[in-house]
Amino acid sequence: MERLVEIEKFSADENSEITLRPSAWNEYIGQEQIKKNLSVFIEASKKRAEALDHTLFYGPPGLGKTTLALIIANEMHANIKVTAAPMIEKSGDLAAILTNLEEGDVLFIDEIHRLSPAVEEILYSSMEDFRIDIIIGSGPAAQTVKIDLPRFTLIGATTRAGMLSNPLRDRFGMNFRMNFYSDDELARIIIQAAQKLEKNIKHEAAIEIAKRSRGTPRIALRLLRRVRDFAEVMNEKHIQLHRTQYALNELGINSHGFDEMDIRLLELLVASSGKPIGLSTIAASLSEDEGTVEDVIEPYLLANGYLERTAKGRMATHKTIDLIKFKNPQESLFI
Ligand SMILES: Nc1ncnc2c1ncn2[C@@H]1O[C@H](COP(=O)(O)OP(=O)(O)OP(=O)(O)O)[C@@H](O)[C@H]1O
Ligand SMILES: [Mg+2]
Repeated sequence: MERLVEIEKFSADENSEITLRPSAWNEYIGQEQIKKNLSVFIEASKKRAEALDHTLFYGPPGLGKTTLALIIANEMHANIKVTAAPMIEKSGDLAAILTNLEEGDVLFIDEIHRLSPAVEEILYSSMEDFRIDIIIGSGPAAQTVKIDLPRFTLIGATTRAGMLSNPLRDRFGMNFRMNFYSDDELARIIIQAAQKLEKNIKHEAAIEIAKRSRGTPRIALRLLRRVRDFAEVMNEKHIQLHRTQYALNELGINSHGFDEMDIRLLELLVASSGKPIGLSTIAASLSEDEGTVEDVIEPYLLANGYLERTAKGRMATHKTIDLIKFKNPQESLFI
């Protein structure tokens, strides 16, 4: 079965997500501090008729980084070119993108921690001096050509802030860490999306979906669509709490918002009975790389007090131990 709480990037839902994506500030719910700061900086640069400073967003997947980049471009009345680091293989690829930009354009690079060193090198000078040096030819006949670039805004997004090199991070004028959303904020996102889907959802049903969404709008919207399907099959005009609970249970979505990986990680920690477990051991047991464990799986568990990071490794909190030890063995943690 498809893991519904899995946070994968390019799912079949992605196309329909585009229509649910907020295009203006008033539809972008939560992240209040980021919104407040950004709107000041946007206003100021518009007044000076300058491009906005380069901006970096970091945080776990699905929290709205790409959406923010699109809103910024919209607010700046700027064109936006969207790309992702794995698509920029050679420095020539980046040079081609940069030289095609126009004054004031926004260049959005997703997964920016995955740029190769050679490409990063080109990015440095373009960010700082709005100029790139391109080497033409090779050997003694090689020539360096300097190309001036228009003033543009680079927006970078990454789930792995720790993997960004210092020189790159330092060249961003602003950087923002995305936070998980509260149940209340997620419920507002769900209700707003339901309206776009022309479906009415009861507030308590929206809260129920929110609670099981791991603090993440992308998961909330995905669950909303599945719950809507259940309601539609039953010919129900409104999405009610009981149908929502039934649907989420049928789908095997955990009431704490955990996905399968979370549960495997927490069970591992509880089983070690108080001995901290190192990151590399955890990664090996889950067959994941360390970075994914640290930047994708752990942040939600940390933020909600299910896991502790100590110098010696990771430990389960009392809350987790109670949850896992005292669960009824018949009962799956998934429900
Ligand atoms: N603050 C918000 N208000 C309303 N909807 C939101 C908000 N943040 C995100 N969304 C919705 O959640 C979905 C996921 O957001 P987005 O694609 O921007 O996440 P992301 O941080 O770029 O994720 P990734 O790291 O995987 O690229 C979007 O389709 C968007 O509609
Ligand atoms: Mg994104």
